[in-house]
Amino acid sequence: MDLSISQFEFGQRPGVTIPTPEFLEKLTEAGIRKMVSDHYDLLSRSEVKHLFPRIDEALDKAKQRSSDFFIQICGGHPYFNENRGKPVLVRRHAPFAITPEARMVWLNCYQQVLSTLDIPEELIQSFWNYLNVFSSWMVNTNEE
Ligand code: HEM
Repeated sequence: MDLSISQFEFGQRPGVTIPTPEFLEKLTEAGIRKMVSDHYDLLSRSEVKHLFPRIDEALDKAKQRSSDFFIQICGGHPYFNENRGKPVLVRRHAPFAITPEARMVWLNCYQQVLSTLDIPEELIQSFWNYLNVFSSWMVNTNEE
């Protein structure tokens, strides 16, 4: 398994491959929700905690939205479309100053969570490949 982080030039939008549906099949919806929850809990204690909700209720909502999205992108029920509408994720991230360094921290928290999952490595790899590339689309600020 190779959970290394690729560097992309600012403003580049490299082609994205969506994760294999088997990732959701093996991990299950509850497993995705736990993975996302664990990720947010790490973010809340990271160098980019200022970007994320501090209040428990708001954090729970954020966890739900993100889980809804990941279940949907992995071929599951379209919870995100139902609850939030079209993903338009670049636009939804625009209010937050996301630097290349913030992306590294965000991905680093996912590296930690993904390495604890008890499912075949190739499924984790498929999900990681998606995160590694698509996260670069959210980088919208090229300065400290
Ligand atoms: C594969 C990459 C990513 C995906 C799929 C993703 C997905 C999402 C989703 C679905 C939401 C909720 C949007 C809404 O319903 O309004 C969200 C919110 C957010 N994301 Fe991301 N995101 C990614 C990368 C990043 C990165 C790299 C950062 C910065 C470190 C980031 C920071 C945020 C923030 C600050 C919010 C708003 C607060 C919250 O709801 O958590 N995201 N993201």
